[in-house]
Amino acid sequence: MNHPDIVSSQIYTDPDLLHERYTEMRRNSPITYIEHSTYRPFWALVTHKDISEIAKQNDLFISSPRLTLVPKAVEDYLASTGRGRDGSVRTIIDMDEPDHRNYRNITQSWFLGPGVAKFEARVQSIAKRYVNRMAELGTECDFASDIANWYPLHVIMSILGLPEEDAPFILRSTQAMLAASDPELQQDQSQYGTAEFEKLFEYLGTIVEKRRREPTDDLGSVIANGLVNGQAMGMLETLSYLMLASTAGHETTSSSIGGGLLALIQNPDVEKATRQNPDLWNTGADEVVRWVSPIRHFMRTATRDYAIEDKVIKAGDSVAMFYLSANRDEAVFDKPFEFNPARTPNRHLGFGVGAHFCLGRLLALTEIRTLMRELQSRVSNIQLTGDPKWVQSNFVGALKHLPIQYKMI
Ligand code: HEM
Repeated sequence: MNHPDIVSSQIYTDPDLLHERYTEMRRNSPITYIEHSTYRPFWALVTHKDISEIAKQNDLFISSPRLTLVPKAVEDYLASTGRGRDGSVRTIIDMDEPDHRNYRNITQSWFLGPGVAKFEARVQSIAKRYVNRMAELGTECDFASDIANWYPLHVIMSILGLPEEDAPFILRSTQAMLAASDPELQQDQSQYGTAEFEKLFEYLGTIVEKRRREPTDDLGSVIANGLVNGQAMGMLETLSYLMLASTAGHETTSSSIGGGLLALIQNPDVEKATRQNPDLWNTGADEVVRWVSPIRHFMRTATRDYAIEDKVIKAGDSVAMFYLSANRDEAVFDKPFEFNPARTPNRHLGFGVGAHFCLGRLLALTEIRTLMRELQSRVSNIQLTGDPKWVQSNFVGALKHLPIQYKMI
């Protein structure tokens, strides 16, 4: 191996060791060509500056054909069965211009306009319900699997218009797909989430049919009936769109909330400050996303040779952008290893950067700040009762288990 390991999924269960390695790479080897036994070779980018430079040039660095690190063996298996990112899924993150812009426009005004504001009251009532759940559970719970996993899922299902009783199915499918390398969350390792993915597509197909027959005012209908250049979207694109919203739309926010609570437990002064001044969550929600960086990386592929610093990325080479590392970059953040909800400006890359910048940002920030305020106004003395356990994945950064005890106020 020609580099410290920042790639294997196991390393992501040990945040201290991982950060030691990222820090070392930011200092000594910010752009590294990685040849790893599990993955096809790629360039690792670990600084804020380099990631921003590459991601902003989305005509030169495109999403197709390699969006995340997938083990070679799995890529070969998927290719041999005619499946894989180029065949059976086409989300807007997979798309390049001009398609990307055309498809993004279908929901952009919903996400950036009055859509999210209209849901604030609903987010508030769902947050209340999950703090009520903590009261029902007594004085102890696994905050990750009892609360954090369900609240954003409930919000996105309500926004998409999906029946609440289907939540356990959506959660299982999401975890099997996004945390495909974690043995605890994956029923069949050799499938790498493919079987769950197919079941989810089948399920979403019935929703699309229903919404096309009888449109309602939910986001599910906006997607099911979206037009591109005056034509209905193809089924592959429609299902992929709904799949992205119904999986990425909660997993990342759940991770933020679990990781945010852990940061509060580990920093009692910050916990006290935010409890005394809930307005700190106006900026604090972004700090939670910087701190946790729930998406560890996305990839791009060069369309022509490109010189960056002292390296040349060749046409056809892929780059992985390690957002978690960029979000601890000493060149950009003052005291990057301090969790500081008052941090402004906070130019973190947790939501990505460039043309694919997260559409769900406003919704996610609203959910984080609402839950944190509700929680701190009704729950006190929050302490760990066991070790937090991180998902074994180099793609998503979530807590699987966060055992706590607490007192309802
Ligand atoms: C804290 C929570 C969240 C985080 C950390 C997050 C992170 C990200 C990142 C890093 C990207 C960029 C992908 C790339 O550059 O290739 C992205 C894109 C996206 N996110 Fe989020 N996300 C979050 C919440 C949400 C929510 C709640 C939704 C709602 C459905 C959402 C929907 C999307 C969509 C549709 C895109 C694709 C945008 C495009 O390709 O133009 N995200 N997100």
